[in-house]
Amino acid sequence: MTTPPRNIQRHDGEVSRQAREQLLGQRGAVLWFTGLSGSGKSTVARAVEARLHAEGRLVYVLDGDNIRHGLCADLGFSPADRTENIRRIGHVAALLVDAGAIVLTAFISPYRSDREQVRKVLGEDFLEIHVDASVEVCEKRDPKGLYKKARAGQIPEFTGISAPYEPPEHPALRLTTGGQSLAESVQAVHELLRQRGLLAPPTVSGQ
Ligand code: ADX
Repeated sequence: MTTPPRNIQRHDGEVSRQAREQLLGQRGAVLWFTGLSGSGKSTVARAVEARLHAEGRLVYVLDGDNIRHGLCADLGFSPADRTENIRRIGHVAALLVDAGAIVLTAFISPYRSDREQVRKVLGEDFLEIHVDASVEVCEKRDPKGLYKKARAGQIPEFTGISAPYEPPEHPALRLTTGGQSLAESVQAVHELLRQRGLLAPPTVSGQ
């Protein structure tokens, strides 16, 4: 079967990413939080968001439980649907980075290959953060009662129980939320951003 021609072309406006970053006085980047349900991805991302916002940064959180109500409302939790979920989020994150924002994403994103695809789209702008809490820890917290349901066989393909989670091998940062406080996690993320030069004003080309 041949694919019909799509007759679409890219075109750029006069305003570049760099110009937008100059306007904002920051650099765009994605902090990609990955980990089990209940590991603390959203909690840490929201707390980092609040701190960066208070420091005058344009920062935006994309969160699994929210995005699945709209953009990804048609997707479930099969491997193929999760891959498509992460693919879409990766492209949305790339658009926001092009707008100059610091983007924090909080998705289980259990498959290494899906995360690597996002890394390919974003290149250096992708910083992977493993929110590393064991199934035991997450199950004890069980903030949404989902582990209980999954154990009772009421949620098929539940990550960590009946579906896999592939941890990152070389994340930019690993947070062990079972053993460290929220404030410590937030500080570690902030430090990562600082070390990577993402909190310094963008350099003007030609200078
Ligand atoms: S992902 O695997 O595609 O990255 P995503 O982060 O968007 O998942 O959504 C995970 C959230 O959906 C969980 O925090 C939980 O609230 C809910 N959920 C519902 N069913 C499942 C399931 N089978 N496995 C994991 N999470 C589920």
